[in-house]
Amino acid sequence: MTEPPTAGRFDGAGITLCVTGSVAAYKAAMVARLLVKEGALVQTILTRAAKQFIGAATFGGITGNPVLDDMWDPTIGGEIHVDLASDSDVVLIVPATADTLSRMASGRADDLVTALALSATCPIVAAPAMHPNMWSHPATRRNIETIARDARVTLVGPTAGEVASGDVGLGRMSEPEQIVDAVASALSPPDLEGMRIVVTAGPTVEDIDPVRFVGNRSTGKMGFAVAERAAARGAEVRLIAGPVALPTPRRAQRVDVRSALEMQTALDEALGAGLAGADAVIMTAAVGDYRPKQSHDQKLKRAPGETTLELVANPDLLATIGERRTGTSPLLVGFALETADGDELVELARGKLRKKKIDLVVANHARDSFGRDDNRATLVTEDAAEPLGSLSKRALADAILDRVAAQRPSGQ
Ligand code: CTP
Repeated sequence: MTEPPTAGRFDGAGITLCVTGSVAAYKAAMVARLLVKEGALVQTILTRAAKQFIGAATFGGITGNPVLDDMWDPTIGGEIHVDLASDSDVVLIVPATADTLSRMASGRADDLVTALALSATCPIVAAPAMHPNMWSHPATRRNIETIARDARVTLVGPTAGEVASGDVGLGRMSEPEQIVDAVASALSPPDLEGMRIVVTAGPTVEDIDPVRFVGNRSTGKMGFAVAERAAARGAEVRLIAGPVALPTPRRAQRVDVRSALEMQTALDEALGAGLAGADAVIMTAAVGDYRPKQSHDQKLKRAPGETTLELVANPDLLATIGERRTGTSPLLVGFALETADGDELVELARGKLRKKKIDLVVANHARDSFGRDDNRATLVTEDAAEPLGSLSKRALADAILDRVAAQRPSGQ
């Protein structure tokens, strides 16, 4: 059997690449290429000065997205910098000129890049590039100190070496690979290091005969996003997946299963006696509630008239774990997919929380989640309900994992 491909570090991450005017702008094209190759959705902004060095067609071609350059573009509705800020998982400024850094240090917002930098709440990574005399100038030193004190922007580089003029000194932009690594670190603080997290994903499939089955429409995208983000944030992840054709997230240990009972066996194996094998269980799988009473070895033949398929109930895997748990570990997270909305959705989710004896329910409206790349979810606990608005599955995964990290016993 061929191994499924490994997912990229940036699968589904929204990265806004801001290119400002320096000779090093040509390296930004390479950065865009590396990001796209690892699965990022890249939106490029070119400043007017950047266009003196490199063309929009280069970035449009690499990223597959039209390049933005104008805060006042009348063809785009809304406030471009605010919309971009909410769509970005990272804002990346490559190269960052002395002038751009100066305007960022003083909180200016007089072009699309600085306005975005001011409104973004996600990590901002900037790769300075300038002549060594500009980098060592007291004005630039002051600006860099201010930026460091504000702690909103991570600088990568500059490094010592030859700059465009042929002079040698500190001011040369970091290499594309280093910049891309800095983006990966910005996206994934190692706050789950040392935690063991079990994630279930996808549908379960219950065979009727060798060619027919009872299944559901779950795609597994949510669970794979949770596993990917948990592993990127340093957790030891076991991903128990129903039949889906998705690449295995980096560093996650994947166990493929088919039916609900197989999933239960894989969970038992992962959790072990006393449930001591995991610190958190995140059940995104759409576990089939029923299976055919009888599964046939041979393909069933068409018979005249009506036929009846007898179903028996599968165990509720999450409730079984909730029942067995004596203390507060592992933390138990379930999903509720409902056709209700608003308060009714929260009440149904809270009902599930109590019935299954778990800590957190991620409540989704069916219309907003199935097979889509984004979700509108509400995080429901015993005493709170937090609507998260519309988020990518990746961002929702991070929001859930923030809760897991917050529940981590101190000293762990
Ligand atoms: N779940 C489970 N085992 C099952 C069914 C569901 O572990 N046999 C888990 C899912 O992984 C998910 C949560 O329970 O985290 C969702 O439960 P859901 O199927 O919505 O709840 P049910 O109790 O089956 O309620 P209903 O289908 O009636 O809404």
